[in-house]
This record gives sequence, structure tokens and C-alpha cells, in this order.
Amino acid sequence: MAEELIITATTKAEQYAQLLPQIQSVIADEPDPIANMANTAAMLHQAFRWWWVGFYRVADAHTLVLGPFQGPLACTRIRKGRGVCGTAWQEDQTQVVPDVDQFPGHIACSSASRSEIVVPVHDTHGTVVAVLDIDSDQLNAFDETDRHWLEQIAQLLRHGHS
Ligand code: SME
Repeated sequence: MAEELIITATTKAEQYAQLLPQIQSVIADEPDPIANMANTAAMLHQAFRWWWVGFYRVADAHTLVLGPFQGPLACTRIRKGRGVCGTAWQEDQTQVVPDVDQFPGHIACSSASRSEIVVPVHDTHGTVVAVLDIDSDQLNAFDETDRHWLEQIAQLLRHGHS
């Protein structure tokens, strides 16, 4: 396992291309999904310095509960269909939100959050078991490049769930 994250590229796509195999190598031999979410959040945060990076896990049929994250204190539970995270879960679709103030029902865990991307994480049967939530203190921080690479990272996490 790599002991230290190394990112030397300057473009976002190249940074993701360097990051992905390092995440893969860290989580490949570890079956525990919490451990893998924890290291994935840490590596994403270290690489991109976003305001908040973390996971909400499906707790029951109606509720997401806070999982491993990097960043300030966050909301603990989110109902299905509520906010960006609850919408990503309900629709089983990545949500890219350029301006959180324009998203109906956005849950403001932090007033510093200005834009957001939320990516569903599935188990091997294709059921959503968690969402990866990333918040920026800048408007328009996330685009199709982020969607592409973060969906790949979410795929890597699938193996830890049966
Ligand atoms: N803004 C999110 C809630 C989670 S946090 O910002 C960490 C949402 O609307 O789902």
C-alpha cells in the first residue's frame, strides 16, 4: 500500500488520473467499507482541498447517516429525497449543483458551502449504499470532469460491499 499520496499534475483531469490508482491500491485489499470510505475522503481532500468531502451511508429505507469525512462538522442524518444527498440517493443519479442557493431544498450544513457534487455509491447488486458528497466554498466548482472521475472512484468502493 502507498504510504503517501503523490499528486504532481496541474490539470484537474490529470490530477484525478494520478489519484485514482492510488485510491485503488489503498482500498484494494481492504474489505471494510468504512475504512475505505475514510481513506478515500482523506485522499480526495488532500488532493483537492475542498471545503468538505465525505460519505453519507444508507442507514434504513428512509435515512442517510453521516459516515467518514474530512472537513467541518456536518448534519448527521438526511431523509431520502431531501437536499442534494437525499436526491442523489432517491434518483440514483449524480447531482452537480453549481450554486447551492438555486437547489430546491438544499440542506445548509455550512453557510460557507457554495457548490456541491453528490455521487451515489452502489453495492455489487447495484443498490445505493452510500453517497459521496463534496462541497466547495466556491461557486461552480464541479463539472463533467469531476462527475466522470468521482463516479469512477465510487465504482472502486463497490467491492467492499457484498
Ligand atoms: N448540503 C448537503 C448536506 C450535507 S452537507 O453539506 C455536508 C445536501 O443538501 O444534501
